[in-house]
Amino acid sequence: MSSFKSVIAGIGGYLPESVLTNEDLAQRVDTSDEWIRARTGITQRHVAKEGEYTSHLATKAAQAAMKDAGLTADDIDLIVVATTTPDLTFPSTATIVQEALGMTHGAAFDVQAVCSGFIYGVTVVDAMIKAGQAKHALLIGAETFSRILDWEDRATCVLFGDGAGAFVMSAAAADDDATGKGVISSFIRSDGRHRDMLYVDGGPSRTQTVGHLRMLGNQVFRHAVTDIAAAIETCSANAGVETADIDWFVPHQANQRILAGVAKKLGVDPGKVISTVATHANTSAASVPLAFVAAKADGRIKRGDLVMLEAFGGGFTWGAALLGY
Ligand code: ACO
Repeated sequence: MSSFKSVIAGIGGYLPESVLTNEDLAQRVDTSDEWIRARTGITQRHVAKEGEYTSHLATKAAQAAMKDAGLTADDIDLIVVATTTPDLTFPSTATIVQEALGMTHGAAFDVQAVCSGFIYGVTVVDAMIKAGQAKHALLIGAETFSRILDWEDRATCVLFGDGAGAFVMSAAAADDDATGKGVISSFIRSDGRHRDMLYVDGGPSRTQTVGHLRMLGNQVFRHAVTDIAAAIETCSANAGVETADIDWFVPHQANQRILAGVAKKLGVDPGKVISTVATHANTSAASVPLAFVAAKADGRIKRGDLVMLEAFGGGFTWGAALLGY
């Protein structure tokens, strides 16, 4: 047992200003607002403007999270950025954010688990805090998926958006009741046999290009519902918590039908499932913290609540994390 726990000291998010509606998309490809809403629940998405990169969104989300925590970059000793759309192949987006925040101390690195990146990041940062390797960490999920979409493929280009969300995760004494429970349990999984169902058809080693996202949508859908439900059950069981006792579920925002499918499978009240998919679309690793920020801002998630985060993405990768916020 570690003498430390990791608590969520602050949260923040950032969405690029420009908005692309379903009607805008219907001007570009053979689709309709009706089809997109009915199949996904999405009505619009935010898209980064030219010259606005993943690191820019990440830095803004990080600044908001530090402000919420009452901390400055001087206090932060670790930056982890979960992203699949880094500014460059290298250096990591985390080091670019570190420089943008004016930090010349600490360590920074990226985590790549596609849409599950934030859950993987919670797991990694929690472990590092418990091992005494960080006191105040910035965990950022940041993406510009608009840059890897095939804008002529109606089956994929309607699903994604850009954005960033961040948590400040701080070390507290494991027996300090005043700081809240923090990360209670987390569970991550992957199964590389399914990598051809959701992937990008380019990369530095194989093609020397960036490539475009490709997906077998209905296969992904089927796996996502089953695997997310199982991850939530495992994560709850490991913590000795009944799913009925969880106050809020903050899922990766891929598709309203996936959110509904998981809630139905687990017998969870859909009113406890936070959804931002209508206005954010799928922002990959950014979607969980952005949904958390939205639910805190509108007064649903409050300090002391028991919150389950969960996600599923390319690889396949998936996982869940239970927090006492
Ligand atoms: N507008 C109009 N028609 C479309 C569009 C579109 N944007 N996209 C596909 N279609 C058509 C297809 O061409 C097909 O036409 P056909 O029958 O003439 O061949 C028809 O709609 C049905 O296509 P399906 O792919 O079977 O449609 P489905 O009901 O499975 O819905 C969707 C597609 C929304 C992608 C769904 O499979 C899905 O949500 N899958 C989950 C995948 C997901 O969310 N991925 C995100 C990344 S992974 C993650 O984050 C979990």
